Amino acid sequence: MAEQPQAIYLKDYQVPAYLIDETELHFSLGEDHTEVRSVLKMRRNPESTASSAALELHGHESLELCRLAIDGRELGAGDYRREDETLGIDQVPEAFTLECLTRIRPRDNTALEGLYLSDGMYCTQCEAEGFRRITFYLDRPDVMSVFTTTVEADAARYPVLLSNGNPVARGSDEDKGRHWVTWQDPFPKPAYLFALVAGDLAHIERPYSTASGREVMLRIYAERKDLDKLDHAMDSLVKAMRWDEEVYGREYDLDIYMIVAVDFFNMGAMENKGLNIFNTSCVLASPETTTDGAFQRVEGVVAHEYFHNWSGNRVTCRDWFQLSLKEGFTVFRDAEFSADMNSRTVKRVEDVTLLRTAQFAEDAGPMAHPVRPASFIEISNFYTLTVYEKGAEVVRMIHTLLGPELFRKGSDLYFERHDGQAVTTDDFVRAMEEVSGRDLTQFRRWYDQAGTPRLEVSDDYDADSGRYRLHLAQSCPATPGQEQKLPFHIPVTLGLLGPDGRDLILDNGDTSCVLELTDSSQTFTFEGIAARPVPSLLRGFSAPVKLQYPLDRQTLVFLMSHDSDGFNRWDAGQRLAIDVIGELMAQHNAGEPMRLDAALTDAFAAVLDDESLDPAMVAKVLTLPSEAYLSELADCIDVDAIHAARQFAKKALAQALAERFERRYRALAPQQAYAPDAAQVARRSLRNLCLSYLVALETPEYLALAQAQYDSADNMTDRQSALSLIAHSGATDAAAAVLDDFYRRYADQTLVVNQWLSVQAGDPRPGALDRVKELMQHEAFDLRNPNKVRSLISVFCNLNAVNFHAADGSGYDFLAERIIDMNRRNPQMASRLLTPLTRWRKYDAARQALMQSQLRRILDSGELSKDVYEVVSKSLA
Ligand code: ARG
Ligand code: ZN
Repeated sequence: MAEQPQAIYLKDYQVPAYLIDETELHFSLGEDHTEVRSVLKMRRNPESTASSAALELHGHESLELCRLAIDGRELGAGDYRREDETLGIDQVPEAFTLECLTRIRPRDNTALEGLYLSDGMYCTQCEAEGFRRITFYLDRPDVMSVFTTTVEADAARYPVLLSNGNPVARGSDEDKGRHWVTWQDPFPKPAYLFALVAGDLAHIERPYSTASGREVMLRIYAERKDLDKLDHAMDSLVKAMRWDEEVYGREYDLDIYMIVAVDFFNMGAMENKGLNIFNTSCVLASPETTTDGAFQRVEGVVAHEYFHNWSGNRVTCRDWFQLSLKEGFTVFRDAEFSADMNSRTVKRVEDVTLLRTAQFAEDAGPMAHPVRPASFIEISNFYTLTVYEKGAEVVRMIHTLLGPELFRKGSDLYFERHDGQAVTTDDFVRAMEEVSGRDLTQFRRWYDQAGTPRLEVSDDYDADSGRYRLHLAQSCPATPGQEQKLPFHIPVTLGLLGPDGRDLILDNGDTSCVLELTDSSQTFTFEGIAARPVPSLLRGFSAPVKLQYPLDRQTLVFLMSHDSDGFNRWDAGQRLAIDVIGELMAQHNAGEPMRLDAALTDAFAAVLDDESLDPAMVAKVLTLPSEAYLSELADCIDVDAIHAARQFAKKALAQALAERFERRYRALAPQQAYAPDAAQVARRSLRNLCLSYLVALETPEYLALAQAQYDSADNMTDRQSALSLIAHSGATDAAAAVLDDFYRRYADQTLVVNQWLSVQAGDPRPGALDRVKELMQHEAFDLRNPNKVRSLISVFCNLNAVNFHAADGSGYDFLAERIIDMNRRNPQMASRLLTPLTRWRKYDAARQALMQSQLRRILDSGELSKDVYEVVSKSLA
């Protein structure tokens, strides 16, 4: 490689030397090339201490500069310096107008950053640094400007022309068959929030009046064929708008709010001001094509992007190190919204599962970074579980420490004080400090120190004095660049259960209290305790830590049935299952027959028999920890033993409880027409879980039950779960037939076909890699479409451990090849594909060597994007 990409550092932050008060853009859209004219009203930043009068604009190497002028005077080639990523002008006036004509090629843009074509429609993705692929600009979030954008295109092919804000003028040139629309966005914004869409789109709309009575029009655009799948997103948007008014006192501020669904998208969705652009997978929904999980995801993502209008757009980030300022806070907001709309405990279980499985693994790997990173080579690599999910946990801890009222005061102060500004995570914490009078200096370490803290707990009880003591100790493993960690400020929500299983009343008069651990170890004393209590620690998962408090199986069963905290009841069941599966793994590896501890069977039976419990929670409790989570917990991942033991446990539970599973399966049969509401979702989740146990028995009878469900389902949730159960069963003929049928039914529904790809990619039986390779040649596959790459390749590499980690290294070889190819097309996607290889240190020596050699092969493969270079080089460091 010619020159290795360099890291940039938070400590080097400097305010921009110039500001852009107004941005006027004119797009003349053409497939072969698009012309972008910009008129920028610029002036020197009074806060800048830079001594020279030089201006340096960002501009991607793919930009073709056609004309550059200052105050109407055209600049010659000698008047500026064009470098790979910048355009420099040595001398500019205090205040001036910069005009620029740039040529770009959207059709060739396979990176899907900047302006590109998705299935024949133009769209943009500018966060984080995509705007510099559109024109020369100060492409940084602390440069905020008022945008006026004219979009001009062929009238017949692109009847709909959209940009941020409100449409203020339109016209056409009949002779040329072209038309144009001018949009004005009155709110100053950074370039990353710019958006443009042009295409032949249909839409639905709904009027909304805000709490203060302003009339807003909500519109959701998609290809005409998907017009029938937009109602759920619209309902979700209205709920989110109402919720933000009620819970945060935040109203929408423009006259129109638009969402556009596009098929080709690197991420989930993007909160561009007034013009959100969504991956179709996060907006389209219909009962026939969409599972319950996907319905809920649409609701959550629509809300997330809407909430960004305040936490992100009205108040934005000073620099990209502050990304969690908007993302962590907004994930916290959308999680609370979803908890209010559905089941709070179920939502918490799902979020913690993701955090403990994937974020903890990230924290333990070579890409570990703090919620506020101190440096990066490519910012796209930092749209991570740490910045998003752990960032949300950090905000949640502030909420726990302050309580809901003070937290709301803090968010009000934050929004009022910083409206229209680009700020830092420190500014957020300071607002919370000011309203509460609390000192969060130590708490800020959550933003600066990477790694998952370990919380070790022991206790003692003295019957004579009635004194119960809890000893809490914390430590945090080293992460790249951070050998030593200082103690965190950890809120530990706690309850104490008496021998009868009831909560004791604590000194605060309540059944729970929040212990604040700030030293490396501390003892908390409880007086007047009549009998040795069982502690319920970290209720609701009050801090993103690894709890180490050994409990015997009997006590776990006790907590499972008595803890008043639903999350901890579930967690006790998970711990019990992990313990039992660990024992099975040991038996498996010792060549002994595996035998499942009846403690687990009995506990599951009790939960299954209790019809007073929420079926959704029952389904969560009865779901065995995933292979991915069991892998995260292991010091050295034994892929095959984990798979064998977990499968064995599943089958043994099915054998012992078949009658119960079948009884509940039948009792939970649908009673009403499908609706994705919480009650029905809960029933289906438990019913399909019961079916999964029954099919694990591999009897013709239960396979037929699954087949009957597949055939008669009136919704995608039931059909798809039957599909994957049959497809992954040992019944080869039935599997082939049902996959065939599914494809024929849904061949014209892209998102459903993606599920079909995923089911096959996730098949744990031998031969999956060959099947994946075959499917890459299938008409349903397209390497340029990120959703398809994720459905097939990412699912195989991340969710099919036994096949991906095959001892011969075939899975690693396959992935390296895909990454080398993808590096050229789409660096963001290529970099994301790398994740499983970055975890090589967690495997046995033979696999370590194979994985490392594939990483080296990628490193040596030629010109690497910054994205891939950063992850590969850090993984090998
Ligand atoms: N801000 C978007 C979101 O809500 C994500 C955009 C990510 N874009 C990217 N290029 N990494 O969550
Ligand atoms: Zn976001």
